[in-house]
Amino acid sequence: MSGDITPNEILRHYNQVDEASRLRRGWFQLEQARTQELILRHLPPVPATVIDAGGGAGAYACWLASRGYEVHLIDPVPRHVEQARVASKQQPAHPLASAEVGDARHLPQGEAIADAVLLLGPLYHLVERPDRIACLREAHRVLRPGGLVWGAAISRFASLFDSLSSGFFDDPAFAPILARDLEDGQHRNPTTNLIYFTDAFFHRPGELSRDFLAAGFQIVELVAIEGPGWLARDFDRLWNDPAQRERLLAAVRKVEREPSVLGASSHIMAIGRK
Ligand SMILES: C[S@@+](CC[C@H](N)C(=O)[O-])C[C@H]1O[C@@H](n2cnc3c(N)ncnc32)[C@H](O)[C@@H]1O
Repeated sequence: MSGDITPNEILRHYNQVDEASRLRRGWFQLEQARTQELILRHLPPVPATVIDAGGGAGAYACWLASRGYEVHLIDPVPRHVEQARVASKQQPAHPLASAEVGDARHLPQGEAIADAVLLLGPLYHLVERPDRIACLREAHRVLRPGGLVWGAAISRFASLFDSLSSGFFDDPAFAPILARDLEDGQHRNPTTNLIYFTDAFFHRPGELSRDFLAAGFQIVELVAIEGPGWLARDFDRLWNDPAQRERLLAAVRKVEREPSVLGASSHIMAIGRK
């Protein structure tokens, strides 16, 4: 286990890319719409307490706060926490309950105080399984009996699909990165190219379920977030046409649990119950 220190690689990456604007670009908009849909599918009504561990710049935390939830955000990147605090101030009627620098493996909250925990980041940035299990056990500790956790993973095959559809499959610098992703899911980027991301672990769908079960959760759902929708040619044209956007979302929903398609999604979501 690597302790509770976030690797410098991860901190350096997020100081160079703008996580605060990511979900407004290209197919990340599909990731956001589907993530929101999957959260609302199971989230209890207000009043309820949500911990967003790995909440980044606050996209989901501020959205849930604006819907009346008591939301606590934790993230190891100080820049993200600052961005989340700024976003929270922009909705003074529904601010975040708290936004603090921290680590999903060591939450500051007491036992059994939360109705929901979001882990939309830590499970792919924690590259060692004992750390991922520790993170999930920590979510289990802070949840009330019956409480829910949403955990996002990056698919083992995401970088293969991404390289083919985005056109960097033949970059010699990317070849060894992809080879290792496919070999053991350990994603490392020794280049300075930011689109090749940073230290991460890429799950097979079954590995994500096993992590949840090992931490004591029952699996409520295991679904594709974007399904194959992120690979759409000319994504922006489809997304900006309301009728095509609905068709795309309906198609993704239709195949969200199809085992033979799960690994083609960029992200996979497991929802677990304590
Ligand atoms: C791609 S961002 C996603 C942010 C947001 N949750 C979302 O889904 O849009 C991944 C986040 O995970 C955070 N993270 C990485 N390691 C973490 C850890 N050990 N504990 C909590 N958060 C972590 C990063 O700092 C980053 O903000």
